[in-house]
Amino acid sequence: GTPTRALFMLFGGTGDLALRKLYPAIFNLYKKGSLSNDHFALIGLSRKELTDDEFRAKIIDSVSSEADQPEQAQAFASHFYWKSHDVTNNDHYSELSDLADQLEAKYATEGNRVFYVSMAPRFFGIVAQSLHDQGVLSTNGGFNRLVIEKPFGRDYASAKELNDALTSAFNENQIYRIDHYLGKETTQAIPVLRFGNPMLEAVWNHEYIKDVQVTLAEKLGVEDRAGYYDTAGALRDMIQNHTLQIVSYLAMDQPNSFVDTEIRREKVKALESMEIYDAEGVKQNFVRGQYGAGPDSVPYREEPGVPSDSNNDTYAAGKIVFNNHRWGDTPFYIRSGKKLADKQGRIDIEFKKPLVDIFAKGTKQPAELQGNVLSFYIDPKIGVTLSVNTKDSEQGLHTETIDLNYLQGADRAAQVPLPYERLFHDILTGDGTYFASWPEVAAAWKFVDPVQKLWDQEPGDFPNYESGSMGPKAADDLLARDDNQWYWPH
Ligand code: BG6
Repeated sequence: GTPTRALFMLFGGTGDLALRKLYPAIFNLYKKGSLSNDHFALIGLSRKELTDDEFRAKIIDSVSSEADQPEQAQAFASHFYWKSHDVTNNDHYSELSDLADQLEAKYATEGNRVFYVSMAPRFFGIVAQSLHDQGVLSTNGGFNRLVIEKPFGRDYASAKELNDALTSAFNENQIYRIDHYLGKETTQAIPVLRFGNPMLEAVWNHEYIKDVQVTLAEKLGVEDRAGYYDTAGALRDMIQNHTLQIVSYLAMDQPNSFVDTEIRREKVKALESMEIYDAEGVKQNFVRGQYGAGPDSVPYREEPGVPSDSNNDTYAAGKIVFNNHRWGDTPFYIRSGKKLADKQGRIDIEFKKPLVDIFAKGTKQPAELQGNVLSFYIDPKIGVTLSVNTKDSEQGLHTETIDLNYLQGADRAAQVPLPYERLFHDILTGDGTYFASWPEVAAAWKFVDPVQKLWDQEPGDFPNYESGSMGPKAADDLLARDDNQWYWPH
């Protein structure tokens, strides 16, 4: 398409996320031409006092590894401006508005404004409201788009309060709630794999699927983020958002067409049909964990900044039941944790075995037929595999299971646009497909809240898994009760 003209205002302009992910993403769009090379500018904001030149030096640093030549990074950085800004000071918004008008004229950005709030979550609401109330939104026909980083609340009530603040200033279709897992290649491929292939969609239901497993496993521990993470935990940090978003793509019905409004409608329907547990249900269907020591690892409670009696979960697993026709009694198992054996996000769809195994009789040492397993690799490995039953090449008939496999090599995977680049592209084109709408966020919190509530009330028996393992034993028991087991690792 034609390159988009835009003026960005980025709150938290020298933050870690901005320097590591956001500027390189914008730079790649600039390089590839979806962002107009002449008609764009960015105002970085925070309380820091910086000159434009100091800010630009940081930008050059942040994007130089992506640049074809040093001049390209310099040309890009010349569109960047710094403004020291206190988000609670109304005068600062008037000054911002003046600067925005000036730059809009200078770069002919046609009134298109993107406001990106990458700050501590307590400031999300006040920034959005002040932008509106102090007249920083453009009024001359361009677009105003508000991008909100996570976390979006810490339970339903706080998320609702935040959402009310945002929607008093912006319309739902102007709000882009970031969930970077929706920018990942494999997440975006799920709807195409499902709705583009009748041979999959035809069996995508409780009649053929035994269970669905979503695993977001991390190898790293809390690192230096205890200040945030110890008040969040795995359930809020990874399950409520990333995991349930992935679940919604797997569970939803076919949208009428692949446009954001239609997709959202179906995702919401799916999320709202998840059974919400009472306290007893939580005990039976959810498992929490906190890592202990392991080879070369200290226990979570000894990590820098973590209280020695922390009750925080670094692992969460659960079973989701959908009260709808498609899924019937087919469970979705989900899990995510830190300090696990390997870093991999993946989805394993386990199909039921053939009703009758005709090979079990009359052949020499037959292997039992296995149910097909369709696996989606999210990150760092990207791809799809499907296990099928076939025969081996020996004399006589012996069945065996093989993997049909499409896994991207490291060089192809390195070419895949990074999540923030995809998401920025969609923000510029006004496509909300890969952003979380408010009803989705609300349904996810309503599902997670009773779990979190119980865990807050009753301290866990921590630590309960070894660093470098695959999590607590109770998570295996959760599946064993249904005669299932985690497919990965196997
Ligand atoms: C973030 C969480 O949302 O996702 C982090 O806050 C987590 O705790 C990260 O490490 C994982 O993302 P990725 O892209 O590295 O798998």
